[in-house]
Amino acid sequence: MTKTFFLSTIALILFWGCQQNEERKREDFVDSLLAQMSLEEKVGQMTQISISEILDDESVAGWNQSGVLNIDTTKLKYFVKDYHVGSFLNGYAVSSEVWYTFGKTLAEISLEHSRLDIPLIFGIDHIHGASYLEGTTIFPHSITLSCSFDPELAKTAAVITVEEAGHLGHHWNFNPVLDLARNKFWPRVHETYGEDPYLAARMGEAYVEGIQETTASNGAKMAATAKHFLGYSDPKTGRDRSPAIISDQQLHEIHRPAFQAAIDAGVKTVMLNSGEINGVPVHASYEVITKLLRQQMGFTGVVITDWEDIISLHAAHKVASSEKEAVYKAIMAGVDMSMVPYTTTFCDHLTELVKEGRIPMSRIDESVKRILDLKYDLGLFENPFPAQMNTTGRPENHEAAKEAVRESLVLMKNEQDILPLDQNATLVLAGSTSNIKRSLAGGWTYIWQHEDDSMFPEEMKTIQEALINRLGANRVKTANVSNINQRVVGADAVVIATGENTALSEGHNNITDLDLPVQDRDLIEAALKTGKPVIVILTEGRPRTFPDQVDAVDAILFAGLPGFFGAEIITEVLMGDVNPSGKLSFTYPYHQSFQINYDHKPTAFTFLHENDEETERYAIGYFGEGLSYTTFTYEDLKLSSSTLKGKQSTITATVKVSNTGDRDGKESVLWFIRQEYGQITRPVKSLKFFEKKEVAAGRSKTFAFEIDPLTDLAYPDAQGNPILEPGEYTLMTGNQKVGFVFEE
Ligand code: GLC
Repeated sequence: MTKTFFLSTIALILFWGCQQNEERKREDFVDSLLAQMSLEEKVGQMTQISISEILDDESVAGWNQSGVLNIDTTKLKYFVKDYHVGSFLNGYAVSSEVWYTFGKTLAEISLEHSRLDIPLIFGIDHIHGASYLEGTTIFPHSITLSCSFDPELAKTAAVITVEEAGHLGHHWNFNPVLDLARNKFWPRVHETYGEDPYLAARMGEAYVEGIQETTASNGAKMAATAKHFLGYSDPKTGRDRSPAIISDQQLHEIHRPAFQAAIDAGVKTVMLNSGEINGVPVHASYEVITKLLRQQMGFTGVVITDWEDIISLHAAHKVASSEKEAVYKAIMAGVDMSMVPYTTTFCDHLTELVKEGRIPMSRIDESVKRILDLKYDLGLFENPFPAQMNTTGRPENHEAAKEAVRESLVLMKNEQDILPLDQNATLVLAGSTSNIKRSLAGGWTYIWQHEDDSMFPEEMKTIQEALINRLGANRVKTANVSNINQRVVGADAVVIATGENTALSEGHNNITDLDLPVQDRDLIEAALKTGKPVIVILTEGRPRTFPDQVDAVDAILFAGLPGFFGAEIITEVLMGDVNPSGKLSFTYPYHQSFQINYDHKPTAFTFLHENDEETERYAIGYFGEGLSYTTFTYEDLKLSSSTLKGKQSTITATVKVSNTGDRDGKESVLWFIRQEYGQITRPVKSLKFFEKKEVAAGRSKTFAFEIDPLTDLAYPDAQGNPILEPGEYTLMTGNQKVGFVFEE
């Protein structure tokens, strides 16, 4: 045994021993605490209340705009003294100072009335940066960030979130969203990492690691939340929280992987899907919460409901004849904590149910232990108090957010290389999102939903402002449909900024028409009639459609919701400072009737055995596609063997990617596999691996992918057990493809 091997073995044993020791210490501490707790104290730990119920009237009246969060100590005492409530949530952007004072008061009064000195845990939605903190660094929303195909950017956003808010008593971040953008009408597409399970898994695990492995300036830690478990994003109608019909096999193959990756990355909490799957509301499903999430997927942390979702079992889903029955169903299904969030009714009902013997104390102890474990792991028993400092506004963090945008914008179309623009270009700018901020940052930014721009920072630029800053006011002429013919005289091109000029989320953001706003489609038509090149910039939370105009426009840049620095970076791309490298993380429908994802089944386009996918145009931008200002060629796709023999074996694929243009560029190489025949229908292709590298102009790089049968060929059956079938497979990357065979 070499000395190095010996020493590393010893180190491993010591590390493992320390870990075991730590776990035993926690076990002993929590068990001894649990043994001293009354039923009412235990139930209080399972209760989460919105801070709207503990603020003074001025703060409640000024919610979202007063900038104050003053606690009404009488209201707070009612919850923490009379009901032992152990968790609070929610808020909106106030300064670090206000959050510090709020958090300190909350912690002090909660502890003062906790007989056993149990600290509270505070949950908040910091969705794309520390969303609810004034001055925070707002990153692109996930639908945009996922187009970077760079999980490190998700991690960076997470790390900066902890750096800016972790010390303020924000111990529990209700993020990442690991639902998939499978139905493009769904009002929360912008919160997802796109439509693909593998991409969402890689982005989500990176985010979880970033949140949970970063320590704030005062030593505080933050828990991440994998949400909303599961199948929330694919309701039949596309309407938020409406019924979903998803087979068990598809739940395992499509909706489970991103959550599994988060669990494998150690995510400490899971928030549930408010909706129903196949007639069973998730919040009442022992199958989903206990058998699937815990027993099959191995999750051991805290399961929290979504907003008022236990009450919804009675009031909305009507699977419980009373709120008390709803509490019974949810707790027996496996819920640990109720985001009630307005009243103490949950406490009353649960206490009664235990006293009546309908819910055993052992079930309560199970949940309370998980909650105390969470608080212990976050160090809250050692230091429950926030620190008084403002860590926002760091230039390096703003630069990180700008870099995230640079990597994420997707050049979908660029006829005759109309982009980048000439440095002295004169532009006509029009469109409903050309001069607003809310369509750049979206919801969950400072406040939950925006109907206007009033809350956005002064220093944040609109597209119009950013273009004028770059080109000068005399080179950017605004127009509308009635004067565009006059305004284009002397202009080099027309830029139409369109998309969604709201910043709503959840049910408020339900739509029945996925088309772009009609006034923008009319504007595009008018612009096309001028004969000038037309460049469309899409700032939107979900892919809005424009089938009648899309073929005639010259260029399309998808920005999604790029965050506070979106306009600046959009300008950088238009002017060629940045070579775009984003690729769509979702299928951009050609027409809103096409709710078809890239990994669709063969018969999505087959009629009488004729597969007309090529002719049946269903997308204007395909998953994994995006243009660059240079050109890349893929060649020499090779396999180390054309036969994969046995599930322990692997083969390696390599492909040579050359930058054949005249400027450096980054390329994300995506590897897809198709199983040619299966016992159940198989997707026409599935993403299995991706890697992004810079390739210098005129140079080439080799990208490799090691194919592992169980990881890359197997797929789950209806019980989630892997099916690995011998037969023909096809590997695809870029415009290359090669067949291989798997033999048992
Ligand atoms: C909302 C959302 C959820 C969020 C929670 C707390 O209804 O569905 O994503 O974390 O309530 O704000």
